[in-house]
Amino acid sequence: MKTAVLGFGTVGAGIHEILQKAEGLESGPVWVRRGKADEAWKTDDFDRILADDSVGAVAEAIGGTDPAFGLAKRVLESGRHFVTANKMLVAEYGPELQKIADGSGAAFLFSAACGGGVPLLHNLALARKGDEILRVSGILNGTTNYMLDRMQNRGMDYGEALKQAQALGYAEADPSADVSGLDALRKIRLAAAVAFGILPDGCLHEGIENVSAEDIRFYQSKGLVLRLIAKAARTEEGVSAYVEPVLFGRNAPEAAVSLNNNLAVYEGRFCGRIGLSGQGAGRYPTASAVIRDLESILSGARRMLPEKTVREAADNGSETHRYLLRVSKKFRDLFPDTEPSGEPAADGSLRLMTGPLPVSRMHALANEIREKGGRIAFAAAEE
Ligand SMILES: NC(=O)c1ccc[n+]([C@@H]2O[C@H](COP(=O)([O-])OP(=O)(O)OC[C@H]3O[C@@H](n4cnc5c(N)ncnc54)[C@H](OP(=O)(O)O)[C@@H]3O)[C@@H](O)[C@H]2O)c1
Repeated sequence: MKTAVLGFGTVGAGIHEILQKAEGLESGPVWVRRGKADEAWKTDDFDRILADDSVGAVAEAIGGTDPAFGLAKRVLESGRHFVTANKMLVAEYGPELQKIADGSGAAFLFSAACGGGVPLLHNLALARKGDEILRVSGILNGTTNYMLDRMQNRGMDYGEALKQAQALGYAEADPSADVSGLDALRKIRLAAAVAFGILPDGCLHEGIENVSAEDIRFYQSKGLVLRLIAKAARTEEGVSAYVEPVLFGRNAPEAAVSLNNNLAVYEGRFCGRIGLSGQGAGRYPTASAVIRDLESILSGARRMLPEKTVREAADNGSETHRYLLRVSKKFRDLFPDTEPSGEPAADGSLRLMTGPLPVSRMHALANEIREKGGRIAFAAAEE
């Protein structure tokens, strides 16, 4: 199957390279910006790709939604298979693109958009056919895992860990999507769509920006390891989806995930708990996931999203956790059912352990405190 590639950056160049050797696949033209087609196999004319009847599939690696959405529509309308690494595109337009694919009989797959080289979506799409997926969770952002790893194992503070992540190319110059948990949230929304047929909107994310070196030392003194975890689960009302820091015991599998690695876990009614770990980003791991999708198409795969996938508001009110807090003293009354947990922090903030609190309530309280100028850091205690 001859495959055209859109974009020749980190991921696009990797796809083009692996296509030269992949069994059953053939590399087609690579679409680049106007004036940048400096090789015979590159083109800056998208119409040339659609006019070439020998091109059977298109792999997109430009990112963003414009022009990616318009191009994806045209590819699928032409009946060609479309594979993408672009989480923003799928989170925004996934169900719409699936409808077009259904109409033309083309495949629409996006394994690389969540977990990079870790085959989470691929496995979820297979597992949900004969099983019922109950929950999906994981460390889905390598940049923040790297930073937490350095803070915990090298005693770095947040600023030093971020600088090192940037120096190694793990974090962007603007790292806000990573450190705020937004990147992990985009990924878990895709996992929820594949696992449950619901693309949840209005989800919650708390990142690691408020975690201090002192917090880390405090958690370590209690034998706990902090990880940024994305979660989605079936609830009575629908589907929950959120990202927040979580504390694990030292022997938990999550605690062993080092540097910028990812760990994705899903639980099926029949298969139980399955864990998948590896590189969640980078040229070759991500490109290999795109190639895996193309190989799946050769074996007959046409979709990752279940039929009739819908968008729905996330239900983050039915899941509850106990939270370990560091909170400004004057907001103590917002947490009536709590116990002190250790000495106050150096700035006088209290350390408290809550009883079971709905996820939506915890995130709302943190927003309220920050809007009023107070400080809070929170982490769920893994039961
Ligand atoms: N990098 C990773 O590890 C990773 C992991 C998982 C998923 N992804 C996803 O893969 C996609 C690509 O990421 P990347 O890291 O490869 O990005 P990148 O290195 O910035 O590459 C993007 C490429 O697309 C081209 N491009 C962007 N806008 C264009 C336009 N309007 N017209 C023509 N070409 C355009 C860029 O050309 P110029 O160079 O001329 O701007 C560049 O060659 C994104 O959706 C990202 O989220 C990446």
